[in-house]
Amino acid sequence: MSNRVKTDRIVITAKINGDERTFLADERDSLLEALRERIGLTGAKEGCNNGNCGACAVLLNGVLVNSCCVMAAEIEGAELTTVEGLAGPEGLHPLQQAFLEEAALQCGICTPGFLMASKALLDENPHPTEHDARFWLAGNLCRCTGYDKIIRAVLKAADQMGSNGR
Ligand code: FES
Ligand code: FES
Repeated sequence: MSNRVKTDRIVITAKINGDERTFLADERDSLLEALRERIGLTGAKEGCNNGNCGACAVLLNGVLVNSCCVMAAEIEGAELTTVEGLAGPEGLHPLQQAFLEEAALQCGICTPGFLMASKALLDENPHPTEHDARFWLAGNLCRCTGYDKIIRAVLKAADQMGSNGR
């Protein structure tokens, strides 16, 4: 980013998607900037860059955060899960599969954030009602799909995860 003020570099070590990673960042980097520009994890998207859209959502020590509102330095020693860490060796996460099956995305900018927020929801509440899902996902904005398909996908994934124990 050419218009940035020059600042000091810092070394950060964190467990990212199960792997210990050490990387150099600008001390003023947000976590979103560090993920995308320093580590090459471009799954988290920049929508508003001010905490209002949820496109940049990740799990920090299991807690859902908007990575545009977290400083990169804050993840030192932490565990981070981004959308790149959602699928396992056995294939797509049930949420990813359900989003595909329910056509719960169009441009896809909001999708990583919805997936991570939905993962956080199902971690906390494996059997959400439609109201629970709509309430939980109120912080994630989608400009093109509409919310019904997204909610259907989340509830479908919850059902499937409940039945196969994943
Ligand atoms: S880009 Fe972080 S909340 Fe919108
Ligand atoms: S799919 Fe385009 S913003 Fe949600």
